[in-house]
Amino acid sequence: MESAYAPYSGFRVGAAVETAEGAIHPGCNVENASFSVTMCAERVAIGAAVAAGGRSLRRVYVCSTSAEPVPPCGVCRQALAEFGPDLEVISEGSRGRVQRWNLGELLPEQFRLEEHASADTEERRPGGERHS
Ligand code: THU
Repeated sequence: MESAYAPYSGFRVGAAVETAEGAIHPGCNVENASFSVTMCAERVAIGAAVAAGGRSLRRVYVCSTSAEPVPPCGVCRQALAEFGPDLEVISEGSRGRVQRWNLGELLPEQFRLEEHASADTEERRPGGERHS
């Protein structure tokens, strides 16, 4: 959260994901002058975990300058679901109140390509490790 680059919103967010192996990877929001390019702290932390070889996430922790705990945004919920469909979500507000959810509560209907792709699409899909 201290490393957050948030000159446009002033809203600083920190996140940390824990992998199945117990490794913890931090992230912070990284804003951009072209606003839609902004990356949320959760997705930056996911990227760090994946780049380090992590593939399964147990939990995500989020903190921000908001007085009350903030839940991950919708895009981050889908991003988290890829690596931990029912992972634990822990969020802490700046006053210290902590709120917990499971991702299944926050995003009950998760998009998974393998459940929706047709056989034809399957043939054309580049070989992904999860689908081999
Ligand atoms: N933000 C996060 O980093 N995570 C969230 O779950 C919600 C929003 C960031 C994005 C942007 O830099 C700022 O908060 C305001 O939306």
